[in-house]
Amino acid sequence: MSQTNTEDLVREIRRLRDEKNAVILGHNYQIPEVQDIADYLGDSLELSRKAADTDAEIIVFCGVHFMAETAKLLSPDKTVLLPDASAGCPMADMVTPETLEEVKQQHPGVPVVAYVNTSAATKAASDICCTSANAVQIVESLDAEEVIFVPDRHLGGWVQEQTDKKIILWDGYCATHVRISPETSGDARDKHPDAVVIVHPETPAEVRRHADAVLSTGGMVRYARETEAKDVVVGTEYDMAYRLQKENPDKTFHTIRGAVCPNMKKITLPKVAEALRKMQYRIEIDPEIADRARTTVERMLAAST
Ligand code: 13P
Ligand code: SF4
Repeated sequence: MSQTNTEDLVREIRRLRDEKNAVILGHNYQIPEVQDIADYLGDSLELSRKAADTDAEIIVFCGVHFMAETAKLLSPDKTVLLPDASAGCPMADMVTPETLEEVKQQHPGVPVVAYVNTSAATKAASDICCTSANAVQIVESLDAEEVIFVPDRHLGGWVQEQTDKKIILWDGYCATHVRISPETSGDARDKHPDAVVIVHPETPAEVRRHADAVLSTGGMVRYARETEAKDVVVGTEYDMAYRLQKENPDKTFHTIRGAVCPNMKKITLPKVAEALRKMQYRIEIDPEIADRARTTVERMLAAST
């Protein structure tokens, strides 16, 4: 896209946003030009709080489907638009209410913690939700010795390292974060020996073990601001580094080879403009599922600081 085209699109998006009383929420993994147009950027927890609080009538969610669905759960009377209907999260599809039911039957009475990276239907079949920012706190808040944790086995494993409760793990994983291996992150460390290494808890245990900090993407934003280090290796999705670099021009952020989430990259400026022009693609949730899933998300918001 030429610079004039981009500028025209940005102007049009801003005009439509203001005319229609819309707000643009963007996840930290969005491509740079989408990050630049967002009214609010954040991690899953920060964006769900924003979605619950906004006065706007329309939420344009620049992220993946489960995030837009969570926004709709928390703002049921608002119109929530996902600019590309196919922007999903493969990990969220690794658990369904049916497969979860089998495990619940094997562990009667054991509460289910659903990572926010799940469908509304799976949330409806769970007891409480969590994000990477509050997973340990949520598990600790439960009055139970055992917890079923779905779907990410790496995030669940990271929680297990920090609690005495027994975590019954699911076999899900994020294909983007498992590409961050001891070799790729070690490579980045070798190239930048003075750098600190920060990683997302969706990375495998052997990567987390060698990191200086394990953080949600919102946690990375705060860490990047506060660290004295001048070089930081960012062990998560590639475009996270764009935000960190923009906000901390005096430091240098290094990405890890291959860590790209193709679904996050599906949201582009032309699709954001088209979403506002045509009011597409609207998130709708079966009301019966929505009521139960909302309770699961609201319990999380009440239990996390
Ligand atoms: P955060 O909640 O840390 O932003 O993570 C969301 C996600 O999908 C990570 O892959
Ligand atoms: Fe899902 Fe992984 Fe993409 Fe996050 S980075 S949205 S967990 S596929």
